[in-house]
Amino acid sequence: MDRTPASGLLPKPPAEVAFSAARVRADFPILGTTERGKPLVYLDNAATTQKPTAVLDAMRGYFEEYCANIHRGAYAMSAKATDAYEGVREKVRRLINARRTDEIVYVRGTTEAINLVSHSWGLKYLKPGDEILITEMEHHSNIVPWQIAAQRTGATLRWVGLRDDGTLELEAFDRLLTPRTKLVAVTQCSNVLGTINPIVEIVQRARRVGALVLVDAAQSVPNMPVDVQLLGCDFLAFSGHKMCGPTGVGILYARRELLDAMDPWLGGGDMIREVRMEGSTWNELPWKFEAGTPAIAEVIGLGAAIDYLAGIGIARIRNHEQGLAAYALERLRGLGPDVRIFGPRLACHRGGVVAFTVGDVHPHDLATIVDQDGVCVRAGHHCAQPIMRRFGVAATARASFYFYNTEEEVDVLIDSLRRAREFFQGGAR
Ligand code: ALA
Repeated sequence: MDRTPASGLLPKPPAEVAFSAARVRADFPILGTTERGKPLVYLDNAATTQKPTAVLDAMRGYFEEYCANIHRGAYAMSAKATDAYEGVREKVRRLINARRTDEIVYVRGTTEAINLVSHSWGLKYLKPGDEILITEMEHHSNIVPWQIAAQRTGATLRWVGLRDDGTLELEAFDRLLTPRTKLVAVTQCSNVLGTINPIVEIVQRARRVGALVLVDAAQSVPNMPVDVQLLGCDFLAFSGHKMCGPTGVGILYARRELLDAMDPWLGGGDMIREVRMEGSTWNELPWKFEAGTPAIAEVIGLGAAIDYLAGIGIARIRNHEQGLAAYALERLRGLGPDVRIFGPRLACHRGGVVAFTVGDVHPHDLATIVDQDGVCVRAGHHCAQPIMRRFGVAATARASFYFYNTEEEVDVLIDSLRRAREFFQGGAR
């Protein structure tokens, strides 16, 4: 396996090719389809993204041409599958600028990555009196594992609150970070508010008290350049399916020294060096954390997704999404004063996620009505109930964009929301 040090960031896309959402849409078979007789307007990308032909072909190629288990067979087809699977680690390493490929652990998704850390690091190193600092902005998957770890170890969970504009109360870090703080677990981009958090600043503050930092990057790695060496974080977790890859594969990045010191979470094949009746020893990194037959096709699909995104350029993706978020914010505000938008006012402080309510129309009703127009948005608490409580709502509707979305699709959403409001409120504001 390649253990060369990080040589740099993602390759720059050719400067002369301007980004065109219309052109990339042709790469996604589903985006040309209809829903309920209307062109599909898919605006639920924070939940999962659509898959380009390149990803579908890569997975199909594995199944049709070299479907074999990895790390096991002496035969050529197994070696080909192993090479394809292991080769993706280098693509991931480059994507997030990790130092080494053995700092990249394949998991099922962001949730599993965080649970792995809470078990393998948390249960081993946390003790009564220790504190874990999280924020009110976290997805349940960056809350519940820490609640479980705290219950089991006697550690205490502390919370950084939210300002009214959906940003973190950064000054609270200074009050809550003490030598008792062993870990700060924070999202880089909120899946509800869209808020982009200043991770570098948070890491610097955490370092002053010797705390580690875990970054939930489920909503950032797919949408903006992320460099773990620049961030200075200790752990970073993200999912393949939110970045044009398949479900069932995600990444835990962790500093090598930490992975070395952590115990395995799952036991089984592949994660061992030797098994004897008296006990077993563990494989090298990263396989120590990869028990059992992994999601081979999915890892290969993730590799194709990373190549695809690199071909477009992550910085271009960020620019396009920021433009769409700005346009959506403007159009939503234009709908009337009964539209409540959650999160930072300016698109430059947020990702391509816009959560909102319209008057007293239930968000589920909004989502159901816009679905009649072929528009897919999510409604509910978005697996972030503390945010809902903080802002005094049970649920919101949420539109979330990716690089293949267009302003025309935002217009379809707005027209559809107007119709939904008329249906439920007779047009009243
Ligand atoms: N975390 C995903 C979302 O926000 C599922 O929709």
